[in-house]
Amino acid sequence: MHLMQMLIHTVSTHTLLGWADLKEEQAEGLQDFAYWQNLAQTLERGRFDGIFFADSPATHAVYQNSVNASVQYGASWPNHDPMPVVAVMAAATKHIGIGVTLSTTGTTPYLATRRLSTLNYLSRGRVAWNIVTGFSMAEHMANGVGSQMPHDERYDFADEFMEICYKLWDSVPPQAILKNAATGQFADVSKITPVDYKGRYLSCKAVAPVLPSPYGRPVLIQAGSSGRGMKFAMDHAEIIFAIQGHVAGMKKSMDQLRAAAATHGKRAEDLRVLYGLQPIVRSTEAEARARMEELKQRVPLDAILARLSGVFGVDLSQFDPDRPLAEMKTQASQGLMSATLTGADGGSVTLRQAAAQWALSVAIPQVIGTPEQVADEIIRVWRETGCYGFNLSPTTNPDSVTDFVDHVVPILQRRGVFRTEYEGRNFRENLLA
Ligand SMILES: Cc1cc2nc3c(=O)[nH]c(=O)nc-3n(C[C@H](O)[C@H](O)[C@H](O)COP(=O)(O)O)c2cc1C
Repeated sequence: MHLMQMLIHTVSTHTLLGWADLKEEQAEGLQDFAYWQNLAQTLERGRFDGIFFADSPATHAVYQNSVNASVQYGASWPNHDPMPVVAVMAAATKHIGIGVTLSTTGTTPYLATRRLSTLNYLSRGRVAWNIVTGFSMAEHMANGVGSQMPHDERYDFADEFMEICYKLWDSVPPQAILKNAATGQFADVSKITPVDYKGRYLSCKAVAPVLPSPYGRPVLIQAGSSGRGMKFAMDHAEIIFAIQGHVAGMKKSMDQLRAAAATHGKRAEDLRVLYGLQPIVRSTEAEARARMEELKQRVPLDAILARLSGVFGVDLSQFDPDRPLAEMKTQASQGLMSATLTGADGGSVTLRQAAAQWALSVAIPQVIGTPEQVADEIIRVWRETGCYGFNLSPTTNPDSVTDFVDHVVPILQRRGVFRTEYEGRNFRENLLA
């Protein structure tokens, strides 16, 4: 089983109003290198494959056509940049991988590969890139673009973006680096292929800015689950992240991904899908359930709808919360809308039910109970779905991470489903082991 830990460089991760809880230390941690380094070291002690930084580069403004609810409740604000924290965490660890989200809109392939490859070089191959296409309108407004490309076309744009990234990554092979003090030759230009690309959307004329890492390019991750998103994942991703609200949805999505793999000439066993799960661990089941309720009762509906409206690209203030909500056409996240609005029985859900699922975990299923119960349930879901592993969402930090590492990981290890030592020298080798 492979495990990653989701984080966001803001006041709490997915649990809305998490910052208001006594156990949450992240708001203070935003100005403290040690907070992030301790988290990374705890996760490395727990032998996690990696850390994953989700990122919303700008504040959602779809709900009531305003940023107010998002800002007021700290719901998709503040939007601190995760990239510097990747460096800070990598500097304090040796094995754990660190995935970071970077949108293909608002940057260029040259700048993106420069930032990611610099981190990958510094960390000796421990960086992954979660490639997203900019589903949030806020991102486009913030960057002064003012409009958003249609959903599927954003993936066409991202395909071209990736084509340039691959050329940049291949531009300088390791054997081009001579560092020959006797001749004064640092690099052999005859072995370097400068990029000269002119496409439909993008162009790039450059030699790669970063030395080739002996561990290759960053690991590539994709998390879009619309039809077009899955095609993009087949073309580029080494790891697929997905969110499904229940095991039935995970099984259905695994079937869809297996079918997409077959269509794209990929072997089903090469699909490495990590589903989101949110553990809440206490010494008794009653305490764990009480903890969930304590966190949930604090979250106002407005805060949830501010986030959900941004992700759906639809102002949800116009709907009756107690009527079933049908899937709508959207240019934002089709995958997350579909996963949220499909009940475990395949039927529809009301907006209030959807909101209840989003309050703490953005519709990621919760696994609540004692360490044994949580470990058993995680193993059951893993076996039943045939997924590669899980991407865990914390409620409050750092206690969610420490509880899991100290109490659940040892059980997973004793049951023989999780590593006791890192197998490889870098992120890709550990993920593939
Ligand atoms: C586990 C998971 C994490 C995600 N993290 C981000 C993120 O950090 N930033 C972002 O813009 N989109 C994120 N997404 C959204 C998707 O990557 C994708 O861009 C979005 O769902 C639209 O694609 P789709 O319509 O093909 O599903 C995430 C999705 C999943 C399932």
